[in-house]
Amino acid sequence: MSNQKAAHEQWSSRFTFVLAATGSAVGLGNIWKFPYITGENGGGAFVLVYLLCICLIGIPIMMAEILLGRRGQQSPINSMRTLALESGTSGAWAWLGGIGVLAGILIMSFYSVIAGWAVSYVIEAASGHFNGLTGETAGAKLGALLGDPLQLTLWHTIFSVMTAVVVARGVRSGLEKAVRILMPALFVLLLVMVGYALSTGYFMQGVNFLFAVDFTKLTPEAILTALGHAFFTLSLGMGAIMAYGSYMPKEASIAKTTFAIAIMDTLVALLAGMAIFPLVFANGLEAGAGPGLVFVTLPIAFGEMFGGAFFGTVFFVLLVFAAWTSAISLIEPATAWLVENRDMKRSTAAYSITTVTWLLGLITVMSFSHWSFGFEFAGAQKTDGMFDVLDILTSTFMLPLGGLAIALFTGWVMKKAYVQDELGLSQGGFNFWYQLLRWVSPLLLAYLFIHSLGF
Ligand code: PHE
Ligand code: NA
Repeated sequence: MSNQKAAHEQWSSRFTFVLAATGSAVGLGNIWKFPYITGENGGGAFVLVYLLCICLIGIPIMMAEILLGRRGQQSPINSMRTLALESGTSGAWAWLGGIGVLAGILIMSFYSVIAGWAVSYVIEAASGHFNGLTGETAGAKLGALLGDPLQLTLWHTIFSVMTAVVVARGVRSGLEKAVRILMPALFVLLLVMVGYALSTGYFMQGVNFLFAVDFTKLTPEAILTALGHAFFTLSLGMGAIMAYGSYMPKEASIAKTTFAIAIMDTLVALLAGMAIFPLVFANGLEAGAGPGLVFVTLPIAFGEMFGGAFFGTVFFVLLVFAAWTSAISLIEPATAWLVENRDMKRSTAAYSITTVTWLLGLITVMSFSHWSFGFEFAGAQKTDGMFDVLDILTSTFMLPLGGLAIALFTGWVMKKAYVQDELGLSQGGFNFWYQLLRWVSPLLLAYLFIHSLGF
């Protein structure tokens, strides 16, 4: 154990941690998922619940997850075991890390398929294929891709290999430096798209959809989805942030970094929404169109705007990059566990895990064509079969339950002195956070859950 500690490197600065954690947080969740689930769940009221969940549940639990990682100094499963034993409780808390590892694998299986759509759209954009797209032809273009399992598998494979290569090497310094340049670039490009949205004459209609709160639209499904998305978008509840936290230098402030990451992540999502919804209305599209929303709306805009082939290509390259830095963190906990507990070489571990996620990904590939089926969940109609099942299982159940366990462990099981020492906050700041973590986050989480499932 002391051996492991010595072997466990630290990142050079707080900034490196912020970059890696931001790379994990900002991804498809912000640009692909947030807009489409907002559209499906009627807009404003959903967005409000999501923002409340970020502030009252996501941020306090993110601080807890980082501190568990930094104090545990190992991969999530082993960190949890060590910390539980240190506080005089059962090492069975390691199960928590185990569920997280599983959640990461399941999420990666579909994440990689969707990232594959983005890879394919880089080429579409660069080939000028967005020129003159209308709502109908843009929908048909995506439909042709989704209806072609072989093509989907090709892009899914390319993205899987990209991810495996980086995780296998375990050297990410290059990638963190790239985050520093490419994240701001993505931000600027989203601003360009918001600028374009302003020119459509439908900007206010889009903004209204996002921010005008109408509680009658708030279904139980919307509440559950908003809660789950708060975890998904912050990469919370499955050990990714815990794994990265283990590399965070001792002096760095956990509270400040958490705020920085949560603010950036939320801004990117809201900008994506403001870029997309005006286009939805300008082109007479359906806000609740589902997972294809971004891939139908933005190409229409790129096809129309000045320099659209260039902006479109750069946009999808940046989206792939954002998805890549998230995907790396999705399989990091599983890889680190194999390295520490099964004595595997890092590269063998990374390629093994990727083989599993790649195979599972084929289920999502088929979900949009041959294997598609519908079902009802919490009163909402789902149409994308196993993709929806995997999404609900992970975002709605596994991540929030993982987060709940992290809150309960840090707030009630761990010795308060350890927690206080790790956070290094002022007395007042600490108490405020501690009460949030012990009471507000778990009770609110449990209430939303139980209420929405109709118990
Ligand atoms: N936060 C990432 C996104 O928004 C997805 C993710 C979830 C990454 C969980 C790691 C762990 O795209
Ligand atoms: Na995110």
